[in-house]
Amino acid sequence: MKLLVTGAAGFIGSNFVRLVLDTDPTVQVTVLDALRYSGNLSTMADFLPRIRFVRGEIQDRGLVDQVLREYHVTHLVNFAAESHNDRSLLDNSSFVQTNTLGVQVLLEAARKHGLERILHVSTDEVYGSIADGEFTEESPLKPNTPYSASKAGGDLLCRSHWVSFQTPVIVTRGGNTYGPYHYPEKLIPFFMVRLLSGKRVPLYGEGLQVREWIHVKDHASGIWTALNKGEPGQVYNVGDVNERQNREVVDFLLSQLGLDSTYVKKIPDPRQGAHDARYSMNASKLQALGWRPSTGFEDGLEDTVKWYCDNEEWWRPIVQNESYKAFVRAFYGRSLGDDL
Ligand code: DAU
Repeated sequence: MKLLVTGAAGFIGSNFVRLVLDTDPTVQVTVLDALRYSGNLSTMADFLPRIRFVRGEIQDRGLVDQVLREYHVTHLVNFAAESHNDRSLLDNSSFVQTNTLGVQVLLEAARKHGLERILHVSTDEVYGSIADGEFTEESPLKPNTPYSASKAGGDLLCRSHWVSFQTPVIVTRGGNTYGPYHYPEKLIPFFMVRLLSGKRVPLYGEGLQVREWIHVKDHASGIWTALNKGEPGQVYNVGDVNERQNREVVDFLLSQLGLDSTYVKKIPDPRQGAHDARYSMNASKLQALGWRPSTGFEDGLEDTVKWYCDNEEWWRPIVQNESYKAFVRAFYGRSLGDDL
């Protein structure tokens, strides 16, 4: 397999490449990544010598075309995305550019070069929020933020390219993912780096929203299973059974670090009506292909806490970066005040 992985300098993509290289050393991996704010070469440091790296955007038609031709790519997995809901509430144009138009470029290129498979990595957020029960792959798409709408746009383009051109495309929709190398803007890594810096953490509202958590290694193995055993034209949910309220997750982090609830600052919910109350997916379709998640939530979270404690040299340069600080100021300045 000659595999192009786009967006592999990010969280799930880098963990996926690690898994592929460990699982099947015969796979030739090329990475295309724009190294935007959340993609770092340091995230790929351990496997960089074993892959070919090209810097660039997935929206760059000429470059994508050149990479597919030059390296005789047979399979493509797309992780490249703008992925943070809160940023999409500040400015969402880059979300549509990458998450929707970028996918269109990859699909056209896959068609032109006759790829054997293209797998697009998406999210459970395209379904919107669910009060009871679980989303299946047949659930309607009802995205609530500009981020999730831009992802839904990519998903629908995938569907249309299968129906219209029989491009062999698979879509996976993952739940809230946690683990090492997670850029410190999402709940768990953001709270970890703040707590390790002696700062209070901003919990939106009362922290009652429910997220379905999956360890990044399980998410990566779900994508690998779907790539190798999935049917073209199909969607596969990649979820685990770990539903937790945000406040439960935060309590667990505090207890691991030996801290008390004075480190939590409840702030007015910045997402307001766009804050999905609950996600829950049925993943039996992927399980029917033999996939099983293998990391219990508490064990995985304990390891993740340890990873952030042990890998300050990875996250410290990120949080000291001026653009990172500018985002935190812009989004949390008013609500965190002196705690910023
Ligand atoms: O469900 C999959 C999705 O999970 C992915 O598609 C997204 O890329 C990923 O960002 C994540 O979306 P969420 O919006 O659920 O993740 P986030 O970590 O930003 O927030 C998780 C919950 O924690 C959410 O209910 C908001 C809350 N939260 C988050 C942050 C950053 C806080 O209370 N305080 C915070 O500072």
